[in-house]
Amino acid sequence: MIHESASPLVKHLVNRLRDSRTDAFTFRWLLKEIAKQLLAEACDALPQAEREVPTWQGGFAGRFIEEHDIVCVSILRAALPMQEGVLELLGGAAGGFLAMKRDETTHESRLYYDRIPELSGKSVILVDPMVATGGSLHDALALLKKRAPEKIVTLNVIGAKEGVERIGQSFPDVSVHIARIDPLLNKDAYIVPGLGDAGDRAYNT
Ligand code: PRP
Ligand code: URA
Repeated sequence: MIHESASPLVKHLVNRLRDSRTDAFTFRWLLKEIAKQLLAEACDALPQAEREVPTWQGGFAGRFIEEHDIVCVSILRAALPMQEGVLELLGGAAGGFLAMKRDETTHESRLYYDRIPELSGKSVILVDPMVATGGSLHDALALLKKRAPEKIVTLNVIGAKEGVERIGQSFPDVSVHIARIDPLLNKDAYIVPGLGDAGDRAYNT
């Protein structure tokens, strides 16, 4: 299921990312803050439980997100600031990493490293800012599904319509929370209008 954010604040933050004058430090900070906003929108899909905590007036039973049942997985490189944002809010969650690189000619992604903790019984938050052809996200979801997590939620910043639709069709049970869906891919499979190469912009390369 695809959820495009309707938040004016999220739109504002994404438009600051699109601005080519935004420097790398600010770009990474914006990715982190957008991830936090998207996480807030995705929380219904995360495991929750009521627990009693001690307060100044005795015990209080409240609802908490089950942080220890969550694994936040990033697709290197550009997703690293997003993962940081999620782990700032859910400090008890575990982190996992997938390293993928799109081939500049074929536009197909290739996995060259993975470091994912045990996923059985866990909820996964998969973060990657860009969904262009959808190839990287598709391959990451296929890999994660083989490890039998309870549920998968993705947080993404900008997707091209065709890439996002591909993910929705291939993984109808995954909750995709995306800030903005843009109309086009150009001949080099870059999102238009998009923001350019997210990894390059985040890390000054
Ligand atoms: C970018 C982005 C996605 C991927 C999207 O990563 O972070 O992972 O491209 O493209 P797709 O939907 O067509 O697969 P890239 O491979 O450029 O690596 P980087 O983050 O290291 O720059
Ligand atoms: N990866 C990016 O970083 N940007 C795009 O537009 C497409 C893929």
